[in-house]
Amino acid sequence: MTSNGQNPPKKILLTGPTGFIGKRLLYRLDELGWQVRCLVRRSETLHLPIPLRHTPEIVHADLLDPGSLPAALDGMDAAYYLVHSMGGRNIRQTLAFEQKDREAAQNFLTAADQAGLSRIIYLGGLGDINDNLSHHLASRQEVGRILQSGRVQTTVLRAAVIVGAGGAAFEIVRYLVERLPVMVCPKWVYTLSQPIAIENVLDYLAGCLDTPATIGRSLDIGGPQILSYADLMRMYAKVRGLRRTIVGAPLIPAKLSAYWVNLITPVPAGVVLPLAEGLRNKAICRENAIREMIPLRLVSMEQAICNALSEEAEGPGKLLSQQACFLPGDLK
Ligand SMILES: NC(=O)c1ccc[n+]([C@@H]2O[C@H](COP(=O)([O-])OP(=O)(O)OC[C@H]3O[C@@H](n4cnc5c(N)ncnc54)[C@H](OP(=O)(O)O)[C@@H]3O)[C@@H](O)[C@H]2O)c1
Repeated sequence: MTSNGQNPPKKILLTGPTGFIGKRLLYRLDELGWQVRCLVRRSETLHLPIPLRHTPEIVHADLLDPGSLPAALDGMDAAYYLVHSMGGRNIRQTLAFEQKDREAAQNFLTAADQAGLSRIIYLGGLGDINDNLSHHLASRQEVGRILQSGRVQTTVLRAAVIVGAGGAAFEIVRYLVERLPVMVCPKWVYTLSQPIAIENVLDYLAGCLDTPATIGRSLDIGGPQILSYADLMRMYAKVRGLRRTIVGAPLIPAKLSAYWVNLITPVPAGVVLPLAEGLRNKAICRENAIREMIPLRLVSMEQAICNALSEEAEGPGKLLSQQACFLPGDLK
């Protein structure tokens, strides 16, 4: 029973368990003793480097294949929605994600309503709808609206850049700073954002399950500092002991800078372009209601960067995971 006297959900469906956030959440839920069923498109993509305490149930389904979803949702009480369709190595593939994400969310909601699921917890993006949002951020908000439009109670958590090894947005920052001693940057480097450490994102995602006050709500989640991307890059350089110069060049268009970021980083074009385009939008919490509902110690960005550097990670993060962290002792 929770502190409010309500029974928390018992069986949890985790979508996106092969992803940056989903895989970490799987370990966290396992540690906390939740019974988890993982929804995967292909089993071979679910690598679990450290054994879990309880072997999770694996179900094969694709959110773009509505016929595969009833079996995946059968008997579940709650579900995490940690899926997006950005990806692909070429520019044309970057364009299809909005339609796919609309369909995936609609298919999932229909199946969840039919299965009588009690709640969905979705992690989307921060950003003000009146701020001429990038395709990526507008799409993340659309997915939230779709998931909240059915009978199932959906919690939407909204986050900016999540700092953790292997996270696409963080890897963009990492590769730019690692590879470029002098960065001539468009004006988006001065856009303000409220990045959050992956550890705190997991605290909030897992915390929602036994916090009834979060049911059906849209809640912003952010770290303790409001920073520009230039600040974040300087902080990364400081933690790594690198000397870096950032020069503002306000006339470079956002789209051109997205293509330029794509040349510098190994993150696939289909992910890096929509993300880089979104860097022009401010991403700051509008409210902090979740801090009362799920009280936490928020991890500083210096500490989050240091944690990311010292962690063994898969994907792009692996390249640098062995390197030293130069964070001064008092911040460790
Ligand atoms: N990373 C960040 O900095 C950040 C910041 C704010 C919000 N978020 C949000 O957090 C959520 C998860 O992001 P992430 O960074 O963990 O993404 P990710 O690492 O790219 O993982 C995406 C996951 O979605 C799955 N997926 C994609 N299409 C699917 C489909 N049709 N059916 C079933 N599964 C499908 C992928 O499975 P496969 O292995 O089969 O491809 C993968 O597990 C997203 O909603 C994102 O907007 C992320």
